[in-house]
Amino acid sequence: MSKLFSNLMSWVDARFPATETYEYHMSKYYAPKNFNFWYFFGVLSMVVLVNQLLTGFWLTMMYSPTAEGAFDSIEYIMRDVEYGWLIRYMHSTGASAFFVVVYLHMFRGLLYGSYQKPRELVWLIGMAIYLCLMAEGFFGYLLPWGNMSYWGAQVILNLAGAIPVVGDALVTWVRGDYLLSGATLNRFFAIHVAVIPLILVGLVFMHLVALHHVGSNNPDGVDIKKLKDENGIPLDGVAFHPYYTVHDLVGIVVFLFIFSLVIFFFPDGGGYFLEKPNYDPANPLKTPEHIAPVWYYTPFYAILRAVPSKLGGVIAMGAAIAILFVLPWLDKSPVKSMRYKGWMSKVWLGIFVVSFISLGYLGVVPATPVSTLMSQIFTILYFLFFLLMPIYTSIETCKMPPKRVTGGNH
Ligand code: HEM
Repeated sequence: MSKLFSNLMSWVDARFPATETYEYHMSKYYAPKNFNFWYFFGVLSMVVLVNQLLTGFWLTMMYSPTAEGAFDSIEYIMRDVEYGWLIRYMHSTGASAFFVVVYLHMFRGLLYGSYQKPRELVWLIGMAIYLCLMAEGFFGYLLPWGNMSYWGAQVILNLAGAIPVVGDALVTWVRGDYLLSGATLNRFFAIHVAVIPLILVGLVFMHLVALHHVGSNNPDGVDIKKLKDENGIPLDGVAFHPYYTVHDLVGIVVFLFIFSLVIFFFPDGGGYFLEKPNYDPANPLKTPEHIAPVWYYTPFYAILRAVPSKLGGVIAMGAAIAILFVLPWLDKSPVKSMRYKGWMSKVWLGIFVVSFISLGYLGVVPATPVSTLMSQIFTILYFLFFLLMPIYTSIETCKMPPKRVTGGNH
């Protein structure tokens, strides 16, 4: 049997680099041995991506992308299709899970300076993934054709109307009609199930190719490629397979356990994953009392509302996302990891986290004078974290990082 298999592999390898690719990315990819909790979220993002693709394809088989049929087809999936409720909840809760794991994954980048040289492209491709995810969530949210789907899309689409001169024409073009209609739903469906998933999968592939080209960073931020043994293997590296495949399985099982708990017991996340007005069909004549986007957009929605003018708000919101793209060039620190950076970086990272979470909360609640003032303060702090970074990372005193990684369980 093994002879047959090795003959088969030699035949394949002569025509396709199967073994070479497997070795390069798995059995001979040497990852730092000190990965910690924060390093689970990359693989978990992949798990959730696969979950979204599989459950999404399945839903597509029973969903009807028409203004007349969409809402009813979701009810049909929930009530009549065998295990349809499970597939739908895996997908709708999966969207929130995606953002939970991706936000933690991005935070890890901030914590250990994973965006710094030579991983700038890993970060930039990651940011492109993040934009795609946001767009994917937006287009998907219209599909159940619930009342919040309708009004949420209405509010966000109208933001483009703030663009001078071309704004209104642009909104009509994107909407495909003079008001949000079945034509809009149909194109959003096409974008949600075909266009963005294809781009997303391509970007994730590039993300991993770029990462494996430069090698992973680690919680100490030290370059493990500098110290190698006589065979050219990093002294502080372990083969990704079997060490990290087994290690990651533990994280995956824990994640799936928590994910199942949410799906079976809190599938709508108390109105945060599936908002209450979405249990009513879309009604152009009835605006929900309080329109708020799903939680993962609310930090940026709060920034939008913090600026009094509509155009100013749109620009501030765009800038809040755009500034993340230039992060690798704002950080001037000679060290990568927060473990060795000075106190100013630590304090500013704390301020950033508090601001981001507070903005997330302020974006959910109805706007009042107090909440608007708070949003303005946190918006300023959010931007200061980035804008002051070139200064505080250059003037602070850092600790000397060790030559070799510390800790490590292997
Ligand atoms: C579908 C979404 C994503 C998937 C499937 C994904 C997957 C991965 C995987 C498997 C790794 C290696 C394991 C790890 O370091 O955790 C990784 C590393 C990395 N990712 Fe992502 N990622 C995604 C989104 C993002 C986003 C949105 C960003 C940031 C904007 C990002 C930035 C990074 C960085 C900087 C690294 C290198 C980390 C290091 O070596 O310390 N990723 N990603």
